[in-house]
Amino acid sequence: MEKIIDENKQGESLNLKSKDGNTRKLFIESYGCQMNFSDSEIVASILSKEGFNTTKELEEADLVLVNTCSIRDKAEQTVRKRLEKYNAVKKDKNPKMKIGVLGCMAERLKSKFLEEEKMVDLVVGPDAYKDLPNLISEVDDGRNAINVILSKEETYGDVAPVRLNSNGVTAFVSITRGCDNMCTFCVVPFTRGRERSREPQSIIEEINDLANKGFKEVTLLGQNVDSYLWYGGGLKKDFKKATEMQKATAVNFSMLLDMCAKAQPKMRFRFSTSNPQDMTLDVIETMAKHRNICKYIHLPVQSGSNRILKEMNRLHTREEYMELIDNIRRIIPEVAISQDMIAGFPTETEEEHQDTLSLMEYVKYDFGFMFAYSERPGTLAGRRMEDDIPADVKQRRLNEIQALQRKHSHYNTQKQVGQTQEVLIEKSSKKSDAHWSGRNTQNTVVVFPKEHYKVGDFVNVKITDCTSATLIGEAVGYSDNN
Ligand code: SAH
Ligand code: F3S
Repeated sequence: MEKIIDENKQGESLNLKSKDGNTRKLFIESYGCQMNFSDSEIVASILSKEGFNTTKELEEADLVLVNTCSIRDKAEQTVRKRLEKYNAVKKDKNPKMKIGVLGCMAERLKSKFLEEEKMVDLVVGPDAYKDLPNLISEVDDGRNAINVILSKEETYGDVAPVRLNSNGVTAFVSITRGCDNMCTFCVVPFTRGRERSREPQSIIEEINDLANKGFKEVTLLGQNVDSYLWYGGGLKKDFKKATEMQKATAVNFSMLLDMCAKAQPKMRFRFSTSNPQDMTLDVIETMAKHRNICKYIHLPVQSGSNRILKEMNRLHTREEYMELIDNIRRIIPEVAISQDMIAGFPTETEEEHQDTLSLMEYVKYDFGFMFAYSERPGTLAGRRMEDDIPADVKQRRLNEIQALQRKHSHYNTQKQVGQTQEVLIEKSSKKSDAHWSGRNTQNTVVVFPKEHYKVGDFVNVKITDCTSATLIGEAVGYSDNN
């Protein structure tokens, strides 16, 4: 997540330290949002207890699992190509190999995968991973197996994820699952079910454990983190039925953030994703209060037009969104803000597209994740609205949005040249082995010469140059957060 869709990570297979005595080999690959990558760590943890070690070699796998994304048609096509590849390897090299689909496509297509497509042996939805041991024994006995039941309670709060391919510095911790917002274009409420929150104590324990293992930054994950609400378990939508005691002791997102920041004062915290209609000022005030909560908010808006926002069932107006941005900047002047935008939603006019560009001009986002509308079967827009914007028009609008974002990203990185900023070192720079790569509090990537510093150090870096996406600088010493 991060955002969430890190194109460099798409399709990355996971590899963890082998556990002695495990004899079977699991190849697990993930696509889509950060939650999927995080879920794959839960799956690997569950299967590690069932005798599976992970492998990066597809050819030698006994079990191949692909954690899938349904958010746009292109994401599904990518997964289909991978399934063809696995089947080719199975046919030519490893006939005993079993193939399973996890995640959102499993949930969306359910038994279709087994009946019509005959490409897989196992289909498991996002809430059914604890059933994997049973499902795999079905498959071992020669039967196909499927569990796509969505749950009201499952948060995997009691599964300790194994950190896979980790840099040992940054980690993701899930805090909510599912989404109740029903944006009309979005398949997530159908594939990930109703919204539920994870018990705060289990979140804090996971964070403490990460801190003990040397991790320095945690991103709290959920489809809509601002909606987090713990009142003893159960669905968010059932909160109104909770007892007076449950209501009085409930924990909301701003309280959870405060608990995390206090539990590990030296650890950095981020969160993703925020939804404008659920973000409250107390969250922003909590961010301002704690130095260790990063000053970055991913705040998707999708469109700058009031009519389109309404058609999308985004429950706020352009003006309310601008007011929220003003309030965020008043309380946290140095904050970075990023967007998700959809170009060519059904019926979008040229003028409404211009409203999107003018909203972007108002906010001047630091980053953005921009997409052409992709009709998803089963969603309200998919059922009720014709996908009527021609592909070339969608693409042209998308190009305009992307070009404007590049300009704003550059404007924002240029403003930071000359500043000295605290950076957490994560890894070697992709472009140069002599440079470290890390991020500042605003989530911008910073690269600088390695000198004597090492991964996991908090370093003050003087910014001397920039591109639209990256800051370039020189370390001037350790920060006082080490
Ligand atoms: N709340 C979620 C949103 C998940 S989808 C989160 O954690 O980020 C991520 C983004 O994909 C959305 O914000 C939206 O911009 C885009 N998206 C979702 N459905 C889409 C569709 N049908 N076509 C194009 N883009 C879509
Ligand atoms: Fe999708 Fe809207 Fe939820 S984009 S994940 S339905 S907030």
